[in-house]
Amino acid sequence: MKSSIVGLAAVLQLAVHASAQDGQSSPSDLENYWSYGHSESVPDTPVAKGLGDWADAYNKARKLVSQMTDEEKNNITYGHASTTTGCSGVTGSVPRLDFPGICFQDAGNGVRGVDMVNSYPAGIHTGASWNRDLAHSRAEHMGAEFRRKGANVALGPVVGPAGRIASGGRNWEGFGSDPYLSGALAAESVRGLQQNVIACVKHLIGNEQETNRNSPYLLEGSHNQSISSNIDDKTIHELYLWGFQDVVRAGAGSVMCSYNRINNSYGCQNSKVMNGLLKGELGFQGFVVSDWTGQHTGIASANAGMDVAMPDSQYWENNTLAIATKNGSMPDFRLDDMATRIIASWYKYAEIPNPGHGIPVSLLEPHDLVDARDPKSKNVILQSAVEGHVLVKNTAGALPLQKPKFLSLFGYDAIPSALNTADDSSLGGWSMGLQNALTYPNGSAVNNETEKYMFLSSTDPSFRGPGVAFNGTLFAGGGSGASTPAYIDAPLHAFQRQAYDDDTYLAWDLISLEPHVNPASDACLVFINEASSEGWDRPYLADPSSDKLVRNVAAKCPNTIVVIHNAGLRLVDEWIENPNITAVLYAHVPGQDSGRALVEVMYGKQSPSGRLPYTVARKESDYKELLEPVIPSGTQNEYYPQDNFTEGVYIDYKAFIQNEIQPRFEFGYGLTYSNFSYLDLDASVHSNANLQYTAAGSGAKIVEGGSEALWDIVASVNCTIQNTGKVRAAEVAQLYVGIPGGPPKVLRGFEKRTIDSGKKEHIQFDLTRRDLSHWDVEKQAWGLQAGKYPIYVGKSVLDIQLHGMLDIS
Ligand SMILES: *[C@@H]1O[C@H](CO)[C@@H](O)[C@H](O)[C@H]1NC(C)=O
Ligand SMILES: *[C@@H]1O[C@H](CO)[C@@H](O)[C@H](O)[C@H]1NC(C)=O
Ligand SMILES: *[C@@H]1O[C@H](CO)[C@@H](O)[C@H](O)[C@H]1NC(C)=O
Ligand SMILES: *[C@@H]1O[C@H](CO)[C@@H](O)[C@H](O)[C@H]1NC(C)=O
Ligand SMILES: *[C@@H]1O[C@H](CO)[C@@H](O)[C@H](O)[C@H]1NC(C)=O
Ligand SMILES: *[C@@H]1O[C@H](CO)[C@@H](O)[C@H](O)[C@H]1NC(C)=O
Ligand SMILES: *[C@@H]1O[C@H](CO)[C@@H](O)[C@H](O)[C@H]1NC(C)=O
Ligand SMILES: *[C@@H]1O[C@H](CO)[C@@H](O)[C@H](O)[C@H]1NC(C)=O
Ligand SMILES: *[C@@H]1O[C@H](CO)[C@@H](O)[C@H](O)[C@H]1NC(C)=O
Ligand SMILES: *[C@@H]1O[C@H](CO)[C@@H](O)[C@H](O)[C@H]1NC(C)=O
Ligand SMILES: *[C@@H]1O[C@H](CO)[C@@H](O)[C@H](O)[C@H]1NC(C)=O
Ligand SMILES: *[C@@H]1O[C@H](CO)[C@@H](O)[C@H](O)[C@H]1NC(C)=O
Repeated sequence: MKSSIVGLAAVLQLAVHASAQDGQSSPSDLENYWSYGHSESVPDTPVAKGLGDWADAYNKARKLVSQMTDEEKNNITYGHASTTTGCSGVTGSVPRLDFPGICFQDAGNGVRGVDMVNSYPAGIHTGASWNRDLAHSRAEHMGAEFRRKGANVALGPVVGPAGRIASGGRNWEGFGSDPYLSGALAAESVRGLQQNVIACVKHLIGNEQETNRNSPYLLEGSHNQSISSNIDDKTIHELYLWGFQDVVRAGAGSVMCSYNRINNSYGCQNSKVMNGLLKGELGFQGFVVSDWTGQHTGIASANAGMDVAMPDSQYWENNTLAIATKNGSMPDFRLDDMATRIIASWYKYAEIPNPGHGIPVSLLEPHDLVDARDPKSKNVILQSAVEGHVLVKNTAGALPLQKPKFLSLFGYDAIPSALNTADDSSLGGWSMGLQNALTYPNGSAVNNETEKYMFLSSTDPSFRGPGVAFNGTLFAGGGSGASTPAYIDAPLHAFQRQAYDDDTYLAWDLISLEPHVNPASDACLVFINEASSEGWDRPYLADPSSDKLVRNVAAKCPNTIVVIHNAGLRLVDEWIENPNITAVLYAHVPGQDSGRALVEVMYGKQSPSGRLPYTVARKESDYKELLEPVIPSGTQNEYYPQDNFTEGVYIDYKAFIQNEIQPRFEFGYGLTYSNFSYLDLDASVHSNANLQYTAAGSGAKIVEGGSEALWDIVASVNCTIQNTGKVRAAEVAQLYVGIPGGPPKVLRGFEKRTIDSGKKEHIQFDLTRRDLSHWDVEKQAWGLQAGKYPIYVGKSVLDIQLHGMLDIS
């Protein structure tokens, strides 16, 4: 405690202390400020029973835990410093019983900060592929690399942030701005990862922005608090918890609680969120681990439902929990449940004898090379890179390229960075993937650790950044979601190889912002990027200097093709209508096979098949949900920053439709080199479907993912799609539903099919009870409502090809 704080601040400190006792925030002095979100206390942590196919793991876990002393149980609930491995975190072990501890390793796009691994396409790239099978196999191969390195837990995938804030720094780690899409792909990712390791789904919950997510002042030991995401019960169920529900149903072995507060109670001590929603309502069987240093209280965080503290714990060390069970401040069964959840997940998914053996403490010291790569992963890495490319403009047959005689290449994003050491620490431990691109908004480099820390922790909005990686092609985002590539196949490399085959003449200037253009060029390709990282939110949604480069090339070249590597949505209105700009690709964040994948698409070896997993606006102000960067000074908010999620579920396309804003490119949009027509819609409610409400809590049969009845299929929608164009291509048929009382259209199905020219395919979308229900706050239950549910099947949320109706009565 800083003694210099007087007056109001002193009152606030007392308030925080009082609230820390029960894990909830309830100081009466602040009642006015906290009336929106005052998190309900849910004191009893559900004890995991070993539901479903967890039974065996739980039987074994109970047996092992029953042999542990309370001190040993306590020991495995928090991170211990390791001198033998460089894991992101390691729990304590129980040497007496041969339990070796658990190694946690970043993150969701590949194993971070080590050598001999691959860099996979990022979450948002996978989201743009709209391909469940590919999401599954990407995760399966990635998970195998974690296991070969000795990691028990892969710290991914991400379903929160859910994409509420367009400039949010971590949106690229998730799958897009719709909960149905993101939940479906996250569930496949969990199934894929858990063939080999425990998945850790993050961040529970409401971690929608980086600014003030984890107050730097808090880190320094003062009492400023992290931002509070104040979310009402309906919105939390219908939007922010939706993806977590899908991953729990998929058997997720761990979940990470978030830095931010929810209704003023920290994510890692919020009993409503962990005890109530996750473990109670959703029937979660795994363990909850804190985000790194996200624990702010001791016994209260255990009683609120947190099971593991990382990377260490100043609260749970020295047998604190064991003592607490003896003196009555914590029930015995809670410590048993913590240990049992940890051990059960370990038995079920990741019983590895030698945790972290392939993750050296330092890559700069001599170490055994543990090659985690498998040549069999190559197809998956390439194909998931290919399918995340979204073609949004293609006029005058600009693409595919066909043996061009002369191509000119421009832009800093076509070549790799001069640095690829896999040694994360040489990049400040933070920016691998951004290739040392830490620049202030004024363009000056960020040179030292102090500046980097200031950058990460500043509350000054002008410190948001970087927005662009000038030092080389963007193949990964930054922060803990970064990944370390085996190589970087940059666009220039891949175009060189193709030029060799086609006898194309290639000219390039990848430095100038106002390059010369040889008028003989068949096409001018401009490579730009839009970077993003954990730790800060993006300074803009379109980097002005890159826009200038595009305009400069287009002014001289009538066939200008723009490729954007974008870790997050990027606006293009500065130039998109210029008729000289004939084609535009969002190339997202493709991982190490970037160039190869791009050539595959741009030369028509495969038709582009990605679709936007977010809405691209015409201007920044079209996104109504803004960052809460500025903490008004002279108010209590200075210490307790608040963010009221008053828009409810109306984010991204739901907000655009509600506010009648025409986007530049709508959610679900993307072109191919072929054409598809849609036929024969047939929608009906299953005659034997039970249309009753399903209670969430007591009374309902809870399986992993919540009430069992939520997963009944109650209706189906069928149609046929036909490839009417000239080439084989993939279509993503999208089903939107209008649920009475909700947004006019919500995504409730998608099917990606690759179809030969002229051929047709039958598509069936099955709708579960949850898909058609709303969350009824009064009844605390999901329920169907009597009425008409409009059905839309189309190529995007705005390009509807077939209309129908489901009648529920
Ligand atoms: C959030 O909502 C509460 C009421 O519930 C209100 O008092 C407060 O001013 C709101 N905060 C902001 C920043 O709008
Ligand atoms: C947050 O507060 C809102 C409004 O009172 C309430 O509906 C919701 O259930 C609360 N959520 C949590 C997690 O406390
Ligand atoms: C606790 O874990 C540490 C680190 O793995 C280990 O060295 C120590 O022996 C463990 N303590 C007990 C009581 O098992
Ligand atoms: C644990 O013991 C160490 C060494 O005595 C001490 O520095 C630390 O504060 C203790 N932690 C707790 C939670 O008691
Ligand atoms: C019980 O033990 C815990 C952990 O050491 C301690 O924080 C707490 O103050 C103790 N409570 C009582 C009533 O002794
Ligand atoms: C750029 O901004 C940073 C941070 O505000 C400042 O330290 C630096 O001096 C600025 N550089 C120039 C060239 O203005
Ligand atoms: C690092 O940056 C800080 C803030 O700009 C500056 O005060 C300090 O002198 C720099 N340190 C070194 C070693 O350059
Ligand atoms: C990155 O770019 C900046 C500014 O253009 C330059 O100063 C720096 O040396 C570059 N770093 C690397 C690793 O290329
Ligand atoms: C298009 O390119 C031509 C050069 O081929 C140039 O004269 C013209 O001004 C450009 N148009 C635009 C809108 O940039
Ligand atoms: C709280 O944060 C504000 C910035 O919002 C800062 O000016 C102030 O010094 C911080 N207070 C403490 C006690 O650290
Ligand atoms: C798709 O169909 C439209 C008209 O239906 C036609 O103008 C266009 O050329 C077709 N595109 C392709 C790639 O076949
Ligand atoms: C959809 O197609 C399936 C399989 O062909 C069929 O069993 C089902 O009855 C159809 N449902 C509707 C609503 O047409």
